[in-house]
Amino acid sequence: MYADNALRSFTEATTAAELAEAHAAWLGRKSELKVALRGVRDRETGMTLNAVRERLEGAFEAREAELQRANLAEIDERLDVTLPGTQLRRGRLHPLTQIRREVEDIFLGLGYEIVDSREVETVWHNFDALNQPLTHPSRSHRDTFYVDAETLLRAHTSTGQIRVMEQRQPPIYIATLGRVYRRDTPSPRSTPNFHQVEALAVDRGISLADLKGTLIHFFRAMFGEGREVRMRTSFFPFTEPSVEFDVTCFLCGGKGCVFCKYTGWFEMGGAGEVDPAVFENVGYDPEEWSGFAWGLGLDRIAAQRHGIPDIRMFWENDLRMLRQF
Ligand code: PHE
Repeated sequence: MYADNALRSFTEATTAAELAEAHAAWLGRKSELKVALRGVRDRETGMTLNAVRERLEGAFEAREAELQRANLAEIDERLDVTLPGTQLRRGRLHPLTQIRREVEDIFLGLGYEIVDSREVETVWHNFDALNQPLTHPSRSHRDTFYVDAETLLRAHTSTGQIRVMEQRQPPIYIATLGRVYRRDTPSPRSTPNFHQVEALAVDRGISLADLKGTLIHFFRAMFGEGREVRMRTSFFPFTEPSVEFDVTCFLCGGKGCVFCKYTGWFEMGGAGEVDPAVFENVGYDPEEWSGFAWGLGLDRIAAQRHGIPDIRMFWENDLRMLRQF
């Protein structure tokens, strides 16, 4: 009787909830069957009750599978695969990534190798090897993020150039690109992490003229024909002589406008002939080898290219801004 009633209520259940209810009533912890099983003392009764339990469990599982199949079949019926799907918005590369790739393409076109270096660096690679004196303000904890006394977050991508020079002999033509870190207060023109690209050429007889020619090629490829480059004397511990370079304004082409504050020029970065002390630090003979290096911020290039007034906008992840590029 018990078994027949149980089997009937399994068959009569037409939804998962009804079946669960039937299961509780006939096979649940408090069902007559389970209570009786717990009270069994002799082998005979135990075997009989267990046989009933097995039969009911089998029937329950079969009905469960049946209901699941029926449910799927119903969904299948309602699903019209010929209806248009939900449209997914296509993503895009971040404007900084786009600029970075463009810059890499220009260097690859010149036969340079792109080097991806580490962001957590040693003090040696970030300062000492680059001939940075111990008294240089950028070594301070106020300017640089230190991990411990010998380890820091790189403050420029020149570190990757040292690593390559330590491992290889010239000639070397490389560009190092990536994220760098400085303890600057965020402002429209600077953020505590930003992106740099630095070029390094080491060969025989490399002069400032080679440097300027490469810069002109780079900026014309980046911003269009007709761009001019000018160099102003400057100082960096790792270059001698050192210069800073400007490029003619993208908007007015050098005539002077609001964008360039009527100067016709934009400050772009630093450069120079590699200092002999740097070559000595990596084991090159400065009498034999010469080279140039230059570096600039990718974020500023991207900002100027797109007319973005505040580079913090690159980090805010506001899709209304990012979707425009
Ligand atoms: N490393 C310098 C900086 O981050 C830029 C630079 C690179 C200057 C190469 C000269 C030569 O400011």
